[in-house]
Amino acid sequence: MLEDLQELQKAAVEDIQHAADLTVLEDLRVRYLGRKSQLRQIMGQIGRLPADQRPQLGQAAGSAQSAIQNALDVRHQSLQESIEAESHLDVTLPGRAPRRGSLHPLSQLIDELSDVFRGMGFDLADGPEVEDEYHNFDALNTPADHPARDLHDTFYLREAGLLRTHTSTVQIRVMENQPPPVRIVSLGRCYRKETVDATHHFAFHQIEGLFVDQNVSFADLKGTIESMGRQLLGDDTRVRFRSHFFPFTEPSVEYDFSCSICSGEDTRCSICKGTGWIEIAGAGMVDPAVFTSVGYDPEKYSGFAFGMGLERMAMIRYGIDDVRLFLDNDLRFTRQFSARG
Ligand code: DAH
Repeated sequence: MLEDLQELQKAAVEDIQHAADLTVLEDLRVRYLGRKSQLRQIMGQIGRLPADQRPQLGQAAGSAQSAIQNALDVRHQSLQESIEAESHLDVTLPGRAPRRGSLHPLSQLIDELSDVFRGMGFDLADGPEVEDEYHNFDALNTPADHPARDLHDTFYLREAGLLRTHTSTVQIRVMENQPPPVRIVSLGRCYRKETVDATHHFAFHQIEGLFVDQNVSFADLKGTIESMGRQLLGDDTRVRFRSHFFPFTEPSVEYDFSCSICSGEDTRCSICKGTGWIEIAGAGMVDPAVFTSVGYDPEKYSGFAFGMGLERMAMIRYGIDDVRLFLDNDLRFTRQFSARG
């Protein structure tokens, strides 16, 4: 009987310490100390025991009872305290808002340019960043001995291939896969072996555009570029074309947008240096040699192409003065562009 008492006490105290709430605790009180409890039954039997055994068992039963009662009290108090702590919740306090994520400024510009060109009927096209020499150079009318290749400080890969130096590769990939007409833009990352400083990076982004159909003219190119400039920098943006050379276009141009910050009056303007013009990118009419390399008939089709670096445009639009910030992944920088986040 003595052993029964000790086991009973141990089991009761353990159950009570783990009681999950006040209802469970009340059930345990009834089970271990109630009128029909095992302890009460044992106590009832003690009176019928021989006189010499009674004191010892009586004492053991008494101490089991008070240990159980004590455990009940302790648990009751701690459950009560946690209920009170919860009810101190002040529902009138302002909530803790989850921090909103935001799009990287380059992603915002990519989205915006995609919208601009979708609005003009262009599809989005994609191409690989790991390319071969054929798509990066040869098919774009830039054979191995062409001096224009030297202008692209290319990362060649050990096994084969290279990291694309421009998005013009996508022109070739799209034309290889579909007959004309073609009207695409492609936005993505390019690589050149540049020494990194505030205006140069070995990884950067470009948008490439290609429009091929019958009777596409230089006027279509001008209108498209002008429309992009106005949508990006404001309705009074003007475009200037300067003749230039690219192997894959003939004639080729570079185009500038009028400065949206100073209108050319401020020689200290960080964007145009007082010239009034922001040099943006290259464009031109697709060279017949490019059409021939993808099996398009240059007698029947004409087209224009253009390219533009995205970092410079993002720097102008968001007032960013160091191109390295785009790839540093510093949250203090990226969190500043949450307007559309
Ligand atoms: N791919 C040229 C570069 O990275 C930019 C360019 C110029 C793209 C003229 C074109 C183009 O599509 O027609 O410098």
